[in-house]
Amino acid sequence: MNEQPTGRYYASKQYLLPADNVETQRLNTQHNMIVNAFGGKLFVAPTNLTTGDRVLESAAGSGIWALEFFEKNRTEGVTLDIECIDISSAQFPSTHPSEVHFSVNSVVNLPNPDWTDTFSFAHQRLLVAAMNDTLWRSAVAELFRVVKPGGWVELVEIEAQDFSTWSVGPNSTKLASLINALYGGKGVIGDLSVYLPVILKEAGFVNVQCDPRRVTIGGEVDATPHKITEVKGYGSDMWRDLWMGMKGPVIEAGGYGAVDTVEEYEALVQGTEVELKNSKEAYTIFFAILARKPENT
Ligand SMILES: C[S@@+](CC[C@H](N)C(=O)[O-])C[C@H]1O[C@@H](n2cnc3c(N)ncnc32)[C@H](O)[C@@H]1O
Repeated sequence: MNEQPTGRYYASKQYLLPADNVETQRLNTQHNMIVNAFGGKLFVAPTNLTTGDRVLESAAGSGIWALEFFEKNRTEGVTLDIECIDISSAQFPSTHPSEVHFSVNSVVNLPNPDWTDTFSFAHQRLLVAAMNDTLWRSAVAELFRVVKPGGWVELVEIEAQDFSTWSVGPNSTKLASLINALYGGKGVIGDLSVYLPVILKEAGFVNVQCDPRRVTIGGEVDATPHKITEVKGYGSDMWRDLWMGMKGPVIEAGGYGAVDTVEEYEALVQGTEVELKNSKEAYTIFFAILARKPENT
């Protein structure tokens, strides 16, 4: 589906961000920032992987996490077999090691029975803008099915409930309210750090834990690394590019009484960028939710 008025390419009606080259660039920059937020770690689950283990990278996007995770393990003498899935192949890398596989699949409907009890570790990052309650429950049930008994899942997400943490002026406050309406209309679950642990336990997972990391937005961030993360965080331009990516769904929904045209939305996002650059107050929270499938399943 190509959204001509916005010049962005969207692969799905349900997922609110584009699947084009501009978005690939944003995801790759954001990847580095998130890894920094987790102290330079690609994952925090207490996995103990060995050569030949199979790993699932759900919602792989550009595949940057999987490729770095594969390389890191290989340099440590562990050669993994990684399955990367996404609903769109548009951002998949053109070249990759033969042990890293890419396929078009949805996490709510993984190959069955082929992948049942297959993966020693499943990693999934930033599906917040793609899911509603029904889809999350199906995804968690599928992850439970495809992970081996004793295996871990790690779901990395961003706070999407309390937009007041980055509402630092009239534009950012208006944008926050607009995005809140967009998310509400799509059934997006904002408080995933509360919601996911509940549905993971309901699905049968144990050892469910949440590891939150506070990340500065704007400011400009590198001048004042946050005392908890001590990393750069989200530059105001990165935060701008995130919301620019949602212009298609915003305009398609009629602008929620906040904007009437693409140009008005772009001006609102640009105004937000300026407010964030000039404020030292804004932040968001990333968190990794860990859960283990019991051994005796
Ligand atoms: C914000 S991007 C994150 C990509 C990658 N995980 C990262 O952190 O760089 C979300 C990705 O989820 C994918 N996605 C959306 N719905 C999905 C689904 N039901 N199953 C699998 N992937 C999905 C999108 O196509 C997109 O590539």
